[in-house]
Amino acid sequence: MSAPSITLADLESDPDPILAEMRRSRPVVFVEALDMWLVTRWDDVAEMESKPDVFSAATNPSFLARALGQNMLTTDPPEHTRLQGLFRPVFQPGGRSGDFASGELVALADEILGGLDPAGFDVMSDFAQPLAAASLATVLGLDHHGFDRMWAWCEGLCADIANFENDPELTELGRVAKQELGEAIAERIALAGAQGDADDSGIGLFVRSGATPEEIVNNVRLMISGGINEPRDGIGLVTWVLLDRPDLRARVAEDPPKLKRLVEEVFRVFSPVGTVTRQATEDVELGGVVIPSGSLVAGVLRSVNLDESHWTRPNEIDLDRREGAHAAFALGTHRCLGEWLGRQVVRVGVERLFERFPDLAMVPGAPVVLHGFEFRGPRSIQVSTGP
Ligand code: HEM
Repeated sequence: MSAPSITLADLESDPDPILAEMRRSRPVVFVEALDMWLVTRWDDVAEMESKPDVFSAATNPSFLARALGQNMLTTDPPEHTRLQGLFRPVFQPGGRSGDFASGELVALADEILGGLDPAGFDVMSDFAQPLAAASLATVLGLDHHGFDRMWAWCEGLCADIANFENDPELTELGRVAKQELGEAIAERIALAGAQGDADDSGIGLFVRSGATPEEIVNNVRLMISGGINEPRDGIGLVTWVLLDRPDLRARVAEDPPKLKRLVEEVFRVFSPVGTVTRQATEDVELGGVVIPSGSLVAGVLRSVNLDESHWTRPNEIDLDRREGAHAAFALGTHRCLGEWLGRQVVRVGVERLFERFPDLAMVPGAPVVLHGFEFRGPRSIQVSTGP
């Protein structure tokens, strides 16, 4: 069964009605414009994610391997398990990320906020973007490059990762970012080698974990492609929801720990990462449809997070929801490595923003527009800070 008329542009501008219709009538469907199958119901994506031998991350062709080089997200167990073991400790609460979140994060957010124009600014480009870039750069030990450079690398890599239609301009953007970043990481690896145990940066710890330089370069590219864009969109989405929904803002103001629940609900309802892409290693039946061996198959996280057969009133942001974990950080073997760090950056960033500017409001006549399918978030959020 195929969906000939759906284009990438349709999915990028307003995916939810298309995905809702797919869940209803064609939950596993081939989309010609993407040259891949989309899987839109929770149970089918959970099944996909539980079978890495049948739905392999080592896809061919691979947008990810092209944009970043082979990395943990382009491998299957047992190689994937080995790579995750090398890189995971830095991103756990007891690792470098934990020290960052309890030590430097608040000061970093306050420093960026201190430099903003109190007459008004754009939450995305002036706050969320630099905070997300500077946070990951600090954890990894790449902060000397400045957050603008980090952001440019992230943007270049993401443009090529989401380049489903093989636009040559996007491929070139990705190629330049891949090369420049590769050189910057290689330099940092050399420095870590010279500093030995004195280097407590993420890259220093990767070197001492026994990862090879190539493994470090490619996996740090992966971290930068996902670990900046996503917390940025998370900060933007949570801020926008608080500005747009006085009821939720009042609820969080009365009971600040509820911000954690809000962050989870916003990740669920808006899913900044659209899909997990795999390749069928054999003819396989999923949701009553046979997917031929060799097909690319995308489990649509954005769709499963709104699946009516899994969630009660899925489109509603419910701070008291108790229906288990959402899928915004994925469900299976490749579940996000940086989810703990990402959550801290989003929550602390939003907390500091509203602490600093308690009267923050959206500028009338500047509506917030979400854009993107593989990566989706607000393009800009223009705000004023005073009554
Ligand atoms: C806060 C928002 C974030 C969201 C919504 C998010 C989402 C995701 C998703 C959906 C995946 C699975 C991709 C797939 O299976 O194809 C993933 C994997 C990954 N994420 Fe994140 N991410 C976030 C933050 C971060 C951060 C801060 C880092 C920093 C290192 C990071 C690094 C990674 C890595 C390395 C993987 C690959 C894991 C593997 O292959 O085992 N992410 N992320």
